[in-house]
Amino acid sequence: MDGNGRWAKTRGLPRIFGHRAGADAVRRTVEASCELGIPALTLYAFSWENWDRPHDEIHELMGLLEEFLRREEPLLHKYRVQLKAIGRLEGLPENAAKALQQTIARTAHLDHMILTLALSYGGRQEIVDAARRLAELVHAGRLVPEQIDEALFSQQLYTAGLPDPDLIIRTSGEQRLSNFLLWQTSYAEFYVTPKPWPEFTKADLLDAIAEFERRDRRFGKAAAPAGAAG
Ligand code: IPE
Ligand code: MG
Repeated sequence: MDGNGRWAKTRGLPRIFGHRAGADAVRRTVEASCELGIPALTLYAFSWENWDRPHDEIHELMGLLEEFLRREEPLLHKYRVQLKAIGRLEGLPENAAKALQQTIARTAHLDHMILTLALSYGGRQEIVDAARRLAELVHAGRLVPEQIDEALFSQQLYTAGLPDPDLIIRTSGEQRLSNFLLWQTSYAEFYVTPKPWPEFTKADLLDAIAEFERRDRRFGKAAAPAGAAG
């Protein structure tokens, strides 16, 4: 979800107004995803590197997260959305962490869609944390290095149990992953729209899905010969 700051700047507004408009886009996108039957939606809300932003902006973003969770929880119940969070969550301020844990607990039984918020999240940090846990298991004699394969490694990631994403959408034109789901995106399709996140609508989501459906996903295999079935 990129472009909140630039969206505000072009209107002569402080960056927080962009983040507030971004929260409205989150609500729209969650609703649209539920209506379209998307089973899992992951939103990159706050990166590990975002901690280097000015203190005031971080404070406002964390306040907005708490406010958003309290305000939008009825929406999660209405659409039967289970909330999850991935990242180094222990670094979140107490109030935001509490709101997050409460909403996660109260939506744990809901099963129409899984909404995952990536918070204090970095893909490299996630891989390092997984490697550390595996090293601890080996050290404790509960695992031998030969047992470590892709499946076992995946189980140590914050996303354990979640499907790998099929489609990554990035707003506001930047063509990079910015430390998002590095392991999980190895064969994801990438879609970039020039629109800033606060302007992202259901129609844009449908455009992204239509483009995704036109992609030929081969997962490293050779293309099927012309005229072959499947
Ligand atoms: C994305 O918008 C929201 C967060 C990272 C929290 P930005 O704040 O990155 O907006 P730009 O990139 O400055 O326009
Ligand atoms: Mg940005």
